[in-house]
Amino acid sequence: MNPIQPPDPVDPRSVLTVQPLGWCVRVAPGQSLVEAARAAGVRLRSSCRNGTCRACLCRLIEGEVRWRIDWPGLTSEERAQGLILPCVALAASDVVIKASVVESVPQATTPSGAAGFPR
Ligand code: FES
Repeated sequence: MNPIQPPDPVDPRSVLTVQPLGWCVRVAPGQSLVEAARAAGVRLRSSCRNGTCRACLCRLIEGEVRWRIDWPGLTSEERAQGLILPCVALAASDVVIKASVVESVPQATTPSGAAGFPR
């Protein structure tokens, strides 16, 4: 499956863009950012997937997230710096994150059309 999914004005799902390579995937309601990326063939770095190990820690560049759990493992300072745990973050809008990708589908491309394999 190609993770590049162009904007669709009638699709209510949020769009997650994973930088620096610019992969875009749809996020279904109730789906975490890690789950949405994985469903589209982009595997973000993660381990516990319940907000405790911090392996998935990354930066929210644009957009808003809600939390699947009451207290994700972030300090108030980290939140103020824009850090999130995408394994327990739900998209409250279209979101852009800067995160490590550990694997992607071979046919993945960036919006510019350039090959978008992990660096
Ligand atoms: S994978 Fe453990 S906190 Fe996100």
